[in-house]
Amino acid sequence: MSTISKRLIFWSLVVLFVVDTVVIYSSGTEEDLGKSFLTSEAKEGKLLFQKYNCISCHQIYGLGGYMGPDLTNTYSTVGKGELYIKAFIQNGTQRMPNFKMNDDEINSLTAYLKYIDKTGVSPVKDFRINANGTVTQNGR
Ligand code: HEC
Repeated sequence: MSTISKRLIFWSLVVLFVVDTVVIYSSGTEEDLGKSFLTSEAKEGKLLFQKYNCISCHQIYGLGGYMGPDLTNTYSTVGKGELYIKAFIQNGTQRMPNFKMNDDEINSLTAYLKYIDKTGVSPVKDFRINANGTVTQNGR
């Protein structure tokens, strides 16, 4: 191989490396992932979620106990939502304890579940893998 073609290959690779670096560092990570919904009330709710150990019976993103349902998208599920969540926390059921929380605690927990809902979808059923390696849920 001539020196000219070696240099050509070398400099082509250098240019590709620079272009790739610029693309990687200037795009791809600007998704909100619900951060703007992590209000101080939602943070309070996260602490309550830990304090009352909701995860012992419930899952978030499929992880947790399996006695109760996954709570990741309860907030946005048609037929469920804010009042539905509050009713469960306030009253409990035959299988879920009534934690006797006050209104502030119930509101915080609901704000936390609203935040969780904005961070993604669980279970992921219909997804596509993008050219840059990220995964998106179809229709979301
Ligand atoms: C001892 C287990 C247990 C614990 C602890 C528990 N839950 Fe539940 N929860 C359940 C069960 C079981 C259900 C399903 C309703 C039923 O079968 O009675 C449920 C239902 C729910 C629902 C309705 C979900 C849906 O999609 O229908 C919400 C919301 C909920 N729980 C929130 C909470 C929160 C918040 C906590 C923590 C403060 C909590 N739960 C702690 C057992 C539990």
